Amino acid sequence: MTKSIHFSVSAQVHRPRRLRANPAIRRMVQETMVQPADLIQPYFLVPGKEVVKPVSAMPGVFQLSVDQAIPLARQAMELGVGGVILFGIPAIKDSTGSDARDDNGLIQSAIRTFKEALPDLYLIADACYCEYTDHGHCGILHNGDVDNDATLEILGEAAISYAKAGVDMVAPSGMMDGGVATIRGALDQTGFTNIPIMAYAAKYVSAFYGPFGIAAQNAPKSGDRRTYQMDPANRREALREVALDVQQGADVVMVKPGLAYLDIIREVRDHFDVPVAAYNVSGEYAMVKAAAMQGWINEDRMVMEILTSFKRAGADMILTYHATHAAQLLQNG
Ligand code: PBG
Ligand code: ZN
Repeated sequence: MTKSIHFSVSAQVHRPRRLRANPAIRRMVQETMVQPADLIQPYFLVPGKEVVKPVSAMPGVFQLSVDQAIPLARQAMELGVGGVILFGIPAIKDSTGSDARDDNGLIQSAIRTFKEALPDLYLIADACYCEYTDHGHCGILHNGDVDNDATLEILGEAAISYAKAGVDMVAPSGMMDGGVATIRGALDQTGFTNIPIMAYAAKYVSAFYGPFGIAAQNAPKSGDRRTYQMDPANRREALREVALDVQQGADVVMVKPGLAYLDIIREVRDHFDVPVAAYNVSGEYAMVKAAAMQGWINEDRMVMEILTSFKRAGADMILTYHATHAAQLLQNG
């Protein structure tokens, strides 16, 4: 008589640790990966030559004249970084941000210089008026508030001007209603049907933009951006904003800020088929840098963990001030 052997399913039958036993198996079961090509490096451009001005709240980030930005962008490109996004801070600001739509403006000249020096670098231009207006709002002011439709008229002009200068992609960040449709129409009517639009589709009013205000000198002189940027409390509204931008022809939709909005990135990923970008914003960068400078955290590990979390949440690409550094880390394995 054989004795029946009874195998009871104990709690230990399922041992997830089997797939964590060594680097080889951990690599094979890894679900998300960050690659340099996913990353977009921002630069803050100022007029002049040989300008390298540290941004106080963003250690490792500088306001640069274009001649100083090019070698950095070349290095980023050689490391495989996907692209760069340019923010311009002109010498002269006025009430309508004229420099942003001047074919010889700061950013237009920078685009031409970049394209000449690095023709293969993927070049994105942020398209918004807050760095160009003397009042710091993202469009034309009327009775203390941004006049949406008056702003649309000049938004299209700026986009055309960047396209003429040779930019690869435009990224409207002003949260104007109808902004994407306006830019799409403007580009199409001037023959730039092949220039894609990355829409800052779900952009929240955020304290996380604080250090950017120092870097780009775009803080509003009065009031705030609550009449155009979204309330951080709102989730469904983000889906409506993204739907509108997709309808209007956005090729890529962005969620911004990133870290405190991973749930929104996931929702957008699940609801839409277009590529999703996440903006790992200035305040998120500043927090990591500040803690690292105190020796409180391991900066390299934290950077990679944060970038991985964006990919895991569903982002296809990440705008991040860590881009070049992260690409270096990835290269060194
Ligand atoms: C301006 C703009 C902002 C950022 C990108 N474009 C700031 C703002 O809306 O005040 C923020 C980026 C960052 O904080 O890193 N339209
Ligand atoms: Zn703006």
